[in-house]
Amino acid sequence: MDQTIAHATALSGRIALPPDKSIAHRTALLSAIASGPSRIHNYSTAADPQSTLDCVRALGIRVEETNDGLVVHGRGLHGLTPPDAPLDCGNSGTTMRLLAGILAGQQFGSQLTGDASLRARPMQRIADPLQAMHGRVTLSEGTAPIRVRPAHDGLQAMEYRLPVASAQVKSCVLLAGRYAHGTTTVIETTPARDHTERMLGLPIDQVGGERHIHVTGGTPIEARTWHVPGDFSAAAFFLVAASLVPESELHLTGVGLNPSRTALLDVLEGMGADITVSNERAASGEPMGDLTVRHAPLQGVDVGGRLIPNLIDEIPILAVAAACAEGTTRIREAGELRVKETDRLHAITQNLRALGATVDEQEDGLTIHGEGANLLGSTVPSFDDHRIAMAMGVAGLVAHGTTTVTDADCAAVSFPNFWEVLDAAAA
Ligand code: S3P
Repeated sequence: MDQTIAHATALSGRIALPPDKSIAHRTALLSAIASGPSRIHNYSTAADPQSTLDCVRALGIRVEETNDGLVVHGRGLHGLTPPDAPLDCGNSGTTMRLLAGILAGQQFGSQLTGDASLRARPMQRIADPLQAMHGRVTLSEGTAPIRVRPAHDGLQAMEYRLPVASAQVKSCVLLAGRYAHGTTTVIETTPARDHTERMLGLPIDQVGGERHIHVTGGTPIEARTWHVPGDFSAAAFFLVAASLVPESELHLTGVGLNPSRTALLDVLEGMGADITVSNERAASGEPMGDLTVRHAPLQGVDVGGRLIPNLIDEIPILAVAAACAEGTTRIREAGELRVKETDRLHAITQNLRALGATVDEQEDGLTIHGEGANLLGSTVPSFDDHRIAMAMGVAGLVAHGTTTVTDADCAAVSFPNFWEVLDAAAA
């Protein structure tokens, strides 16, 4: 599907965001290995979290859809059953990497596969720690399909210093640690999103600038009720859209505000954005609140270092903000973007240039020379990447004339009705 976006003069209204994708994946996985039935309110209908549910079902877990959410009938740490076929993770890196940690601890073999994009993404980063724990995990030239066989004498605990700031790798090792003999410690030097350790209630020592996260093998996971907040990463598109389009005011309610996810708020405020947070509360141990964003002129900014993991998924839309700001923006130390659903540094550069922006691409970052609201509508590809498609949709609201995003339906990977919501805000 191709999506055409017209230049907008104002955005207004209340935006209903999809449930947080990262948290949704984890509620399904943890509930599957919990002892007894867990309820999940506000589970996501987006393609990625649905891939996780399909995998959980294929592992013998009954998932009931009720009027007010899901009931996942967990069967304990060792209650999963061997799947009949390779587990299809679709486009979802989180499904594949977290599930690999759980499967490494099972007494049966399995295989994990996914779509062409996922089969091209690096998996050595999870195979290395799982093999160090005596997991029998084999890859095909560093990528999926992943074959998992039962460990000969079970998984062994270890201390693991994360070589890459990745919540998926961290979570994979923590989940495997739940199956290992002894206590596994994951050491994080640059903190990434902390949902897994929060949701499992794991003990954490702060050692200098490092986080030492401990997980003890064999401890059962309690069944419970989960409430999934709105996805901050989805809110990000509207925070930038309303900042850029004159005369705009948008209200975003029930947004997850976990500090390990919201660095974009600080960066946008540093650029001059007008965003207020209200009604702060918590849902299942995760902070959430309401956001109001009004149009404001933006200035360029420098972003790098420890901020990057806390806005990793927001960089495509930050780049759109930068292209429409006054002055230069530098995004540094963001090489991880090259191994997302597509090479996002390349995709952003190509697409913003197609709309008339001046962008220099570096190996691990971008320099964007903002020229105010000077983008010109054009046709740009989504690169089959949901966040590239949605970022270009927002750029289309600002660009003069019309913009077409080709293969735009991939937005449904995280935000099934994104194009309708965008359209309604501009009406
Ligand atoms: C995620 C972690 C991040 C993020 C992805 C979701 C998660 O990936 O980009 O969209 O839910 O743990 P990395 O851990 O590979 O950085």
